[in-house]
Amino acid sequence: MTLDTATPAAEPLAARIPAGFVIGAATAAPQIEGAAVVGRRTPSIWDRFAAEPGRILDGSTPAVTADHFHRRQEDVALLRGLGADAYRFSFSWTRVQPAGRGALDPEGAGFYDRLLDELLEVGVRPFATISHWDLPEGYERGWLDRETALRLGELAGLLGERYGDRVDSWITINEPATVTLNGYALGIHAPGDSLLFDALPTVHHQLLGHGMAVQALRAAGVQGAIGITNTHSPVSPASDAPEDQAMAALFDLVHNRVYADPVLLGHYPEVPGFLGDALAAFDAVPAEDLAQIHQPLDFYGLNYYMPTLIAAGSGSGESPDGESAAMSALPFRLLDFEGAPKTGFGWPIAPDGFGRALTEMRDRYGDTLPPVFITENGASFPDTIGDDGRVHDDERIAFLHDHLSAALAAVEPGGVAEGIDLRGFFVWSLIDNWEWAAGFTQRFGLVHVDFETGRRTPKASYEWLRAVLAARA
Ligand code: FCB
Repeated sequence: MTLDTATPAAEPLAARIPAGFVIGAATAAPQIEGAAVVGRRTPSIWDRFAAEPGRILDGSTPAVTADHFHRRQEDVALLRGLGADAYRFSFSWTRVQPAGRGALDPEGAGFYDRLLDELLEVGVRPFATISHWDLPEGYERGWLDRETALRLGELAGLLGERYGDRVDSWITINEPATVTLNGYALGIHAPGDSLLFDALPTVHHQLLGHGMAVQALRAAGVQGAIGITNTHSPVSPASDAPEDQAMAALFDLVHNRVYADPVLLGHYPEVPGFLGDALAAFDAVPAEDLAQIHQPLDFYGLNYYMPTLIAAGSGSGESPDGESAAMSALPFRLLDFEGAPKTGFGWPIAPDGFGRALTEMRDRYGDTLPPVFITENGASFPDTIGDDGRVHDDERIAFLHDHLSAALAAVEPGGVAEGIDLRGFFVWSLIDNWEWAAGFTQRFGLVHVDFETGRRTPKASYEWLRAVLAARA
């Protein structure tokens, strides 16, 4: 396939990719697998949430999605065709452990045996996420319940025993910040609670689950590396006004630092006096819990999508401009980056924010920061198959070019985040998939999926990335 003339050339970018730097693509089980009622699999919180009227934008459910469960081999062939070094996927918790506790289900677990074997056969390194927003439906209070941390630890041990000889890198949990904010504070993701600041215990329980999972994987003797993934967003205040500055600092704390600080430094962040007792929930955390959370890690997984612009909110719960009631009850507001180019989701396109996110990681965590993988970066656009049978997703090519380039530049000698040992970059996503509360309205894939037929069509971005990967020295 020939590329359009405006397409960024593969060679100059390829020449800047260091030897050994891992480039791959990522997915998550609830977004691609489907096969919700195959074998002994039981419903997850996302199956239940999607069944509730009005929760998912287009009324869709994760019952079929991209049907990866039945098209696994085709998707592995796509990875091979891409020349990907690695593939990041997640386990469906209720497929491998339908009862939410106790032994793995042999049939459900067998699916991942086959996936891992096939990836290794074609030379693609498996990066496995244990919990990517996925919990058994039976965990009624979800991450509000401390017990869920123990369950994640148990699951990690079982997965470690079964797949520890084949998984290259383990990610305990994906984006705890999004789970707390969207799932428990604002009610826009499963399980759909709108608890605002009362959602904070879910931060601690997810981090504790991470710590227990790390220990269980190590006890199982896994050969692979172990890390965690969170989403990081550099935060800017909307103005110089002290209220906006204070709320930007608060958002940075609750979105970025309350997760990374305990994991990397062993304590929750100190809260400046002007923020009062906003994070008092963490004051009573026992020292033993922090020791469990603060495990040595082989890598840190950083997802970067966009920066955040914050202004003080009224906290009144009135939503004059269409904000959700929960959102408008918070003391801060997320503002639109007016005039910035946007993705199909309306997310601002800001590759320079990548450098800022990495700089913050280096400055805050210094020598305590292990090697870093970008475990997700990508964009949705309203891709369609043209009359020529192709998907001309030039905007995605430009996005990926500019973001990979920005990440590499940030850590190059003289770069804004020089000193970070950046080891790799995963594109979100390998294939178009079910984008949570946005259903099928957002296409993030390098490969187009027809959700009626399951048919895969590699997009121009797939061909472009393949050319970049092939042009490396
Ligand atoms: C991240 C999620 C991933 C996907 C992308 C677009 O926050 O980890 O599953 O939805 O956003």
